[in-house]
Amino acid sequence: MYHFPQSKVLQSLPTQFFATLVSKVERVKAEGHDVINLGQGNPDQPTPPHIVRKLQEAALNPENHKYSPFRGYPYLKEAIAAFYSREYGVHVDPETEVAVLFGGKTGLVEIPQCLLNPGDTVLLPDPGYPDYWSGVALARAKMEMLPLFAENGFLPDYNAVSEQTAEKAKCMFLNYPNNPTGAVATKTFFDDTVAFAKKHKICVVHDFAYGAIGFDGKKPVSFLQSEGAKDIGIEIYTLSKTYNMAGWRVAFAIGNPSVIESINLIQDHMYVSLFGAIQEAAAAALLESQDCVEALVRRYESRRNALIGGLHSIGWDVDAPKGSFFAWLKVPNGYTSESFADLLLTRAHVAVAPGIGFGEHGEGFVRAGLLTSNQQLKEAADRIKALNLFAGTHF
Ligand SMILES: Cc1ncc(COP(=O)(O)O)c(C=O)c1O
Repeated sequence: MYHFPQSKVLQSLPTQFFATLVSKVERVKAEGHDVINLGQGNPDQPTPPHIVRKLQEAALNPENHKYSPFRGYPYLKEAIAAFYSREYGVHVDPETEVAVLFGGKTGLVEIPQCLLNPGDTVLLPDPGYPDYWSGVALARAKMEMLPLFAENGFLPDYNAVSEQTAEKAKCMFLNYPNNPTGAVATKTFFDDTVAFAKKHKICVVHDFAYGAIGFDGKKPVSFLQSEGAKDIGIEIYTLSKTYNMAGWRVAFAIGNPSVIESINLIQDHMYVSLFGAIQEAAAAALLESQDCVEALVRRYESRRNALIGGLHSIGWDVDAPKGSFFAWLKVPNGYTSESFADLLLTRAHVAVAPGIGFGEHGEGFVRAGLLTSNQQLKEAADRIKALNLFAGTHF
């Protein structure tokens, strides 16, 4: 059999760090252990029934069996605009300021292809969501990292970016509520982001994947709520987390019309838009009752309290996340993020994601997902307690 070599660009893609984690977890399970897996990010709850029903009805409509319009049905883009106006007081033109995406990941990987030439510089958060690196590698662009430190609330410090780097950068990615740290942004931070980006003509791509998930009664702020944000950037919003629709692959980009046009253009060449029935169901999710979202946020908050309360009670000094469905836990002295994650997996049968998988500045932390029941989260804390790691530990 002839083996066809991969293109250079494909060979340059970053290795998928978390594939290793999956195989380690599988190995421990195969040994017969019952693993509590807090390492992944797959929402565990079903899509709310009214959205599934809408898909069922819409799937019967022969209109939806045809190709849908290349750039998505106007009713979906109108629903998206109405959602942003209702939730954030942000007003956009549905035709020119909204692009329908096959999930947020697709948009995030497309954007570097739309905006960057080989050798161009892009600013990325570190730690950050690894799929940003994939899009940058495909565009043959260069990454400059924006380190996120606990003492700055895991927000980048623009004063620490050299003038030279800022001048070179064409695009920057941000993500709040943040994966992996669980940090949230403030309106002031986004105001500063607009000022920094305008000064250096950098396109801001704000990944708002966890936009619905804010704790302690605080609704996460949208980047587009800052004055002038639309002049200099876009936001990517996915239905995967807000409505437990990760398998449906539906999201959108919203904001600066030149960027939206570029996304639509690349998609004109790569796809026809989403299955019409999915577009109808997505519009229903955005426009109908949001009680399911409120209930979901309450559920995650209660899980957060179960996990963090459990870890505090065993003497692990960790901060509670303010949003997203992840907790970012400081590793005790004497371990790396990977050796500590290995220890928890092999001795407590609790899987967490080592921080180093999210970038150099993720070292010293592990990420735990809130995607299982309160009972399992408490059980995870009890299993870790049995290792007697924390009595008298200094962080
Ligand atoms: C930070 C972040 N952005 C984007 C996504 C992509 O979500 P989707 O492709 O399902 O819309 C995820 C999913 O895990 C994420 O964690």
